[in-house]
Parts: sequence; structure tokens; C-alpha cells
Amino acid sequence: MINVPLLDTRLQNEPLRGELEAAMARVLDSGGFLLGPEVEALEAEVAALCECRHGVAMASGTDALLVALTAIGIGPGDEVLVPAFTFFATAGSVARLGAVPVFTDVCPVCFNLDLEDAARKITRQTRAILPVHLFGQAAEMDGIQELADQHGLEIIEDAAQAIGARYRDRPCGGIGRAGCLSFYPTKNLGGFGDGGMVVTDDDDLAARMRQLRNHGMEPRYVHHHVGGNYRLDALQGAMLRVKLPHLADYTSARQRHARQLIDGLAGLPGVEQARAADCGCALQQAAREAGSATRLVLPVAYPHNHHVWNQFTVRVPGGAARRDALRAHLATHGVASEIYYPLTLDQQPCFTDLPAHARDGLATAHRLATEVLSLPVFPELTAHQIEHLLTAVAGFVEGAAD
Ligand SMILES: Cc1ncc(COP(=O)(O)O)c(C=O)c1O
Repeated sequence: MINVPLLDTRLQNEPLRGELEAAMARVLDSGGFLLGPEVEALEAEVAALCECRHGVAMASGTDALLVALTAIGIGPGDEVLVPAFTFFATAGSVARLGAVPVFTDVCPVCFNLDLEDAARKITRQTRAILPVHLFGQAAEMDGIQELADQHGLEIIEDAAQAIGARYRDRPCGGIGRAGCLSFYPTKNLGGFGDGGMVVTDDDDLAARMRQLRNHGMEPRYVHHHVGGNYRLDALQGAMLRVKLPHLADYTSARQRHARQLIDGLAGLPGVEQARAADCGCALQQAAREAGSATRLVLPVAYPHNHHVWNQFTVRVPGGAARRDALRAHLATHGVASEIYYPLTLDQQPCFTDLPAHARDGLATAHRLATEVLSLPVFPELTAHQIEHLLTAVAGFVEGAAD
């Protein structure tokens, strides 16, 4: 049987083994293992990709969020608007600073922050909005900017899943006051352990973040702020620099595979593509509920976005049991899949005590948590694997349509 994993990092890294070993040897020979010239070079290269003046490397994407929020002064008494349907770190970073993550509903078409709900949840305490470019597709940044301008809010982008993505030809991460990236191994630029970066055009903010990642220290043993140890290893910097020149090719392969999956599945009975016209994140009409005959809803890449497909996420309407049945069916055919995310953030045990207005009106996010399933889309998928994946999904929807 053909196996189709969700990702196989070895396939991507093996062709670069010689260069990666040379990069490791360079660091070994240098005797310097934290920050230093390799990390500075990576910062410059990633900042250029995001069309920003500064890149400030961090030990993880989570640290990037925490440090960016700390640097803009988020703290107790503040509220930050965060989509309810995202990875935990987006909201965890807000809560760790003593601020309240106020959860907004999301769009069922592009999975990103629902602007109408965000506007409804702004209070006198709201200081910032933290849009996530989920699964590699940009959030509706023009509308977010308009809302932020109207209410004097900061925008920090969570671009952990969206390095290289673009919104109306502007780079994700480089649109708000700061953008946070992750180099976790499953990300589009996957490292060899944890890693992250904040990109920004703001000189003062960058300087503050450089201090904060090193215990707020400058010069040595003079501490201006209570920061932490959020430094990136030189080894990560050196090895990520080997992979960065290949990112555009990895992205093209992801885009090609997403297109093949959409084309291969679109004609099947009960399969429909999400409609851009139903997008709920741009103050448009509320999205249509999927009809009862709909077995599977395919994701959509908006023409104004350069979607980088960190995940290819379908929806299986009709409740978690139907989605889980597809997942089990795929597993019996050797096809891996994953649920990003089975719980919304307001459903997390650690957030049940948040004030009511931080947790209300999240119906779409709740529904998505029961419907979504991410299928393999990684760059090294072979034509045979894609064919096998398509056949396996077709077997499920055709069986279900009988
Ligand atoms: C949307 C989102 N935000 C933040 C993070 C945190 O990044 P990291 O795992 O590098 O800490 C991740 C990745 O795990 C993510 O997917």
C-alpha cells in the first residue's frame, strides 16, 4: 500500500545534507552558539523576505509573540482581539502578560478572523488586534487596518503559518506594527528544533525586542526591562539559512499540490468548493450553511492572496463523527491527516474563567472545530501519493453519497 504521511521532514532535508553539515561545522568551528553572525545574517534575510527593516530572531514562534506583545506594552487591564480558531500560542502569549484575550469568531471560508465580530467586541480596554494568517492564507488586512485605525489599536500579525504569503501584494508579517514567524519543523520554513522571529519596520520596537530576548540587558549586566532568555541558537540560524533559498520552490510545490487536490476532488458527488462570495471576514453576508447533500467543502485561495498552504484543510459538514469517519477511512488507506484544531480557544480548560464578552458569539469557530481535517500537501509529495490520496477521499465521498 502507498503511504501518504502528513509531512516527512527527512525528504526535504536529505538533499541538503552536505550543506547542512557544512553549516553545523561552521558553528562548531566558531565556538559561538547563541545569536551571533549566523543569526544576524538570517535576521537580515528573513526581514528582506518580509520587506521589513528588522528581523529579531527568537527561540520559538511563541516567544516571538510574547516578546512583540511585551514590547508594545501589553499588560494587565488590556484586551487583545484574537481569533478563537488558531493554535494556542496566539492567545497564550496574551494571557501570560496578564492581559485578556478576547476571542472573535472566524470566517468559515478562509478560516480567519471575522471582522464584524471583532468590531462588536472592542471595548475601552482593547489595545491590539492579533490576526492569524491561518493555514498559510492572509487574513483580511485592509479591514483589520481600518478597524485598528478607527479605534487606535496596534496590529501584531501571527504569521507563524504564513512565511512568504502575501495579501494584496504585501508580505504577511510585514503589514502590522510587527509580524511573528515560527520555524517549528512543520512550518513552511521548518528548522531543526524550535525557532522564530519578529519582523518590524519600527526601529525602537526592534531595539526593545533585542533587549527583551536577552533579559532586557544592555550593556552586559545592566537590565532595563524584565525580559527572558528567548535567544535563537547559532546552529538554527546557520541551518535555516541553508533552507531559506529553497522556500520559494517549497511554496510553489505546495501550491501545485493544493491545485491538484482541488481539481481532483471538485467534480466528485457532494463535493463543493468554499465560495469567496461567502467569506464572512470582510463584512460581507453571513456564510451559507453547507447544504445537507454536501459531503466535503474544499478550501479556497483568494485571487488577491498568495496562499502558501501550510495546511490543506477541508470541511466535512455534519458533525465530528462524519469528519472522524473520513479520517479513519483515510488511515485505513495509509493516508495521514490531522485535526487543526479539535477545540477552539474559548473551549480550553485554562480559558473558561475569562469574562463573558471574551468568549461569546463563536458559533462558526465551534462548528469548524467539528468539521475540519487537514490533508497532506507538503512539497515532497509524489504524483503517486497525490493520486492515492485523491482515490482514498473519492472512496469516502462516493460511498457516503450512495
Ligand atoms: C498560528 C500559530 N501561532 C503560533 C505558533 C507558535 O510557534 P512555535 O511552535 O514556534 O512556538 C504556531 C506554531 O506552532 C502557530 O501555528
